[in-house]
Amino acid sequence: MAEKTEKNLSLAFAAESKASVRNDVFAKKADRDGYPQIARLFRAVSDAESVHAHRYLLLLRGKIGSTEENLEAAFQNEIKANVDEYPKLMKDASEEGKKNVLKAFSQSRDVESLHAELYKKAMNDMLADRETEYFVCQVCGYINEDEAPEKCPICGAVKGKFNPIS
Ligand SMILES: [Fe+2]
Ligand SMILES: [Fe+2]
Repeated sequence: MAEKTEKNLSLAFAAESKASVRNDVFAKKADRDGYPQIARLFRAVSDAESVHAHRYLLLLRGKIGSTEENLEAAFQNEIKANVDEYPKLMKDASEEGKKNVLKAFSQSRDVESLHAELYKKAMNDMLADRETEYFVCQVCGYINEDEAPEKCPICGAVKGKFNPIS
């Protein structure tokens, strides 16, 4: 792909991905502040930015790999985040005395290796006819299979903080 176009697609993908999450954060705040209509608008724009991000990723990749390939790539990304990326971020946070940030990075680091395990399991189970529901901790991103736990094993969040993914 032409060099500038590839760079621009990459930048646009990152910016739209960020905008999508940012608007979702704003939606949750608007809900908490008692503005359900504004929350809906933020959620609509968040979804639209996500449409943009999907579109740019597809243009960047040309095509998306098979589900087997994607599971393997997703597994490798989790391992990389756990082994390489988060430890570096944790070191800087620790050196600069940012305890809250250190806690967030360290919980994410732990959760990434559990995500990797889920992917590994899914790769092994791909042909097995097993149905699993997932419950995601909205504080730290830990994923529990089959039910919401009483307490998050990573961050201690209560059961109500888990979102079911069906
Ligand atoms: Fe992860
Ligand atoms: Fe958690």
